[in-house]
Amino acid sequence: MNAAGAILEVEGVSKHFGRFIALNNVSARFQPNKLSAIIGPNGAGKSTFFNVVSGAFAPTAGRLKFKGRDITGLKQHEFARIGIAKSFQVTNVFKQLSAHENVRVAVQMRHARYQLLGPRAAMRDVTERADQLLLRVGLAGLRDRPAADLAHGQQRALEVAMALAAEPELLLMDEPTAGMSPEETVVMMDLITALSQERSVIIVEHKMKLVMGICERLLVLHHGEFLAEGTPEEIKANADVRRVYLGQG
Ligand SMILES: Nc1ncnc2c1ncn2[C@@H]1O[C@H](COP(=O)(O)OP(=O)(O)OP(=O)(O)O)[C@@H](O)[C@H]1O
Ligand SMILES: [Mg+2]
Repeated sequence: MNAAGAILEVEGVSKHFGRFIALNNVSARFQPNKLSAIIGPNGAGKSTFFNVVSGAFAPTAGRLKFKGRDITGLKQHEFARIGIAKSFQVTNVFKQLSAHENVRVAVQMRHARYQLLGPRAAMRDVTERADQLLLRVGLAGLRDRPAADLAHGQQRALEVAMALAAEPELLLMDEPTAGMSPEETVVMMDLITALSQERSVIIVEHKMKLVMGICERLLVLHHGEFLAEGTPEEIKANADVRRVYLGQG
């Protein structure tokens, strides 16, 4: 079947924007129930990689496999259906709806099966599931507050709850702590660590220090290519990586 039980395989993927090569023939393999990070300086190609592996961009060349199945060229909504969910670099919640309503919408959108239940049973099910998800991300106490009233970090947590509504086997996150205070960052990193016990998580992050403590495996992108891959210790000791990170000032 698939190589050594990988959940996601990226094989020789390139992404060109006109004549610009944002990703140049990159390959990587991700194991199930692990937390991996794609790191690299600004402009390295991290968001492009995220967009390709989450199905937002079709690669110019190369193949993607999910649990051994070739998924290259699947539509964005099909990625969600097969078990790949993402939370964005930009906040993406409905501000005027409550936290609970936001998650409920996500649960409903992603579960066609609720259409098979009677309306009352379906409503109860969706409501309960949304409450479980709010609890999971630490927002149960803010259930009925409009999303607009939540702090930035809480809105990002809400987005995570919405991504989890699809019950993904693979969760992709682009700079999950972007714009957060140090306190909010700690809360989010704890949440990500906890989530990765139950599913595969790949985060894209430019702050290397942030992911060093929690990721089992790091892949370093630089100018659209993988410069290094390894454990936090290996990456910390890697001369090429140090040069790239020091070089950016
Ligand atoms: N839609 C696009 N059209 C043209 N060029 C693009 C496009 N998207 C990204 N690029 C270019 O590709 C390169 C990689 O961009 P990308 O956003 O993937 O970097 P990144 O590693 O996520 O950076 P950051 O740390 O700033 O988020 C950059 O030079 C960028 O200008
Ligand atoms: Mg980016």
